[in-house]
Amino acid sequence: MRRLPLPGIPAQAAIDDPALRAAYAACRRFAKTANPTEYSLMQLMPAAMRPSCWALWTALSVPDNIIDTASGTPAQRVTRMRAWITSLEADVKQGTSSDPFRRAIVDTVWRWNLNLRDLSVSFSAIEADAEGRRPATWTDWSARVQRSNASWAGQCLILFNRAGLPTPMRPQYQRDFARYLDGVYLTDTLADLSADLDRGALLLPAEVIDGFDATPADLLQRRWTPQIQALITHLVSRARHQLNAPAFLTVLHPGAVALFTAVSNLFLARLRAVERAGPRLLHTGPRPGKLARQCILAPARAKAALAWQMTPLNVPRTPSLPPQQIALPLTPAARPAAHTPPRPHASGVRPPAIAPDRMPRHVAIIMDGNGRWAAGRDLPRHEGHRAGRSALLDVIEGAREIGLQHLTVYAFSSENWQRSPEEVAHLLELARDGRQQFVAGGVRLRWAGSPDGLPEDLVDELHRGERETRGETGLTLTICFNYGGRAELAGAAADLARAAVAGDLDPNSISEHLLGRYLPNPDMPDVDLLWRTGGEHRISNFLPWQTSYAELHFTDGYWPDVDRRDLWQAIVTYGRRDRRHGTASATPRPAALAKTSSGRSAGDR
Ligand code: IPE
Ligand code: IPE
Ligand code: MG
Repeated sequence: MRRLPLPGIPAQAAIDDPALRAAYAACRRFAKTANPTEYSLMQLMPAAMRPSCWALWTALSVPDNIIDTASGTPAQRVTRMRAWITSLEADVKQGTSSDPFRRAIVDTVWRWNLNLRDLSVSFSAIEADAEGRRPATWTDWSARVQRSNASWAGQCLILFNRAGLPTPMRPQYQRDFARYLDGVYLTDTLADLSADLDRGALLLPAEVIDGFDATPADLLQRRWTPQIQALITHLVSRARHQLNAPAFLTVLHPGAVALFTAVSNLFLARLRAVERAGPRLLHTGPRPGKLARQCILAPARAKAALAWQMTPLNVPRTPSLPPQQIALPLTPAARPAAHTPPRPHASGVRPPAIAPDRMPRHVAIIMDGNGRWAAGRDLPRHEGHRAGRSALLDVIEGAREIGLQHLTVYAFSSENWQRSPEEVAHLLELARDGRQQFVAGGVRLRWAGSPDGLPEDLVDELHRGERETRGETGLTLTICFNYGGRAELAGAAADLARAAVAGDLDPNSISEHLLGRYLPNPDMPDVDLLWRTGGEHRISNFLPWQTSYAELHFTDGYWPDVDRRDLWQAIVTYGRRDRRHGTASATPRPAALAKTSSGRSAGDR
């Protein structure tokens, strides 16, 4: 394939698609302009990995820039940063992006089978900077340095591992590496001191400023007192000590040794520039001269290139998406209809106010207990299902009122065929006239499940509902009908196997992301909140892939007794949960963020 003449994209990186090459080139320019020193050091990585390094750098720098801009309140900047990360997550799921930076990041994540969640420690450290809180002690300072940078380094190590050059960081060197990273960032903080003071930020720990009898005011007002002078001398010596002769170098590949030696030499040169600057340090950002930089970088480039050349690396290619999905139209076919507002609840109750970051994006419900509800009233089971449908209609209105994006309901499982033919016939009948009932303003209907065993006209009807509401952008309502979670996974596995046997897919490229794209509803977001009524505490083969990190909520009432207030209550309960996704971060939890106006009691019921 002919490659666009984009400078700096190494052939070894195996990026053939011109648009993708342009996307990586955008990341490269971004890194080069914003962080020339770090960029020149990334150029010492193996050529095949450089584009992915730029993309990962961009993934962390864009949020960092959003938080560091002068515009907007801290809360507004946090909202903007989170919106960008949410778009990135959605793009990763999709396998592509219309934004050039995100497109390159998505490719890197897919190609190397990375997990975006690994960056979340850094994202939360960056987010915490919005408040501009000064670290109190060196321990706080170091924790912040490690949290914001460790994931970038960790991802680079994964690239090496996946490329066939395992670089296990032995425990005895981890402390040494952390100390080294502290030295790098202390140097950076010193060199950028005046720029930080420009925006009123003071990143040095309070304990060291106090220890030298200096005051933050002296620094912020740029008074070069003897105390400040002594403080800077101490910090330079501390950074120099941390950068000198790191023990972990002894166990690295010669290419990595060349890289880290250049890092040490460049940052030691920056420290000398800081020393030379004297009182000017409070007014300018001292940098080593171009010649000094070249004297360090040129030999390092030669050494690193030679060393990497001797080690063949295996760069994975981006796995191709399943063919049927490439053909999906990107623009909605149907014109969105004029929306009718949600019908209010008979009692006039309004939804609770939920803070945006406490709102689940996707709620899934196992609507259970119809049969027992009917039995309790001496009614046939199908009357329970009929009443259950009314409950669903109210819950849908409540989902629209509270602004939920995705609601998925379990209406008929692949195991429910084992019920009596009469009950099954009633359930099929209820599904048949669903479309007219559910298509309220702005609702996009989806069907998840298998056509096997369903009457053809019902399948047509379910497809018609999907087709006719394809342009809607309000609530996405997915009806799981004749649905079985394991069957869905088995189907995806079979499709992947077929693609591999046909030679369209390298089995090594099968990642979680790729498997997700082979599911029948690849765009369905992960479930945030899974709610089951009817008092049973089980999942019953419902969305096993999508609920793997869902918060679970069980209530005892039967589904036909439920209304929108129970959905709102479930959402309020969800908002109080601490979702850690495997991290140990003990973010202090705000107290209950919202009260229901329905007057129902709070908490799990
Ligand atoms: C859920 O209610 C609806 C369907 C399974 C279709 P059930 O019919 O399972 O009600 P119970 O659990 O028997 O009470
Ligand atoms: C799950 O409920 C299926 C639906 C709600 C449609 P079931 O009532 O069929 O589940 P089990 O049999 O109790 O696990
Ligand atoms: Mg049941």
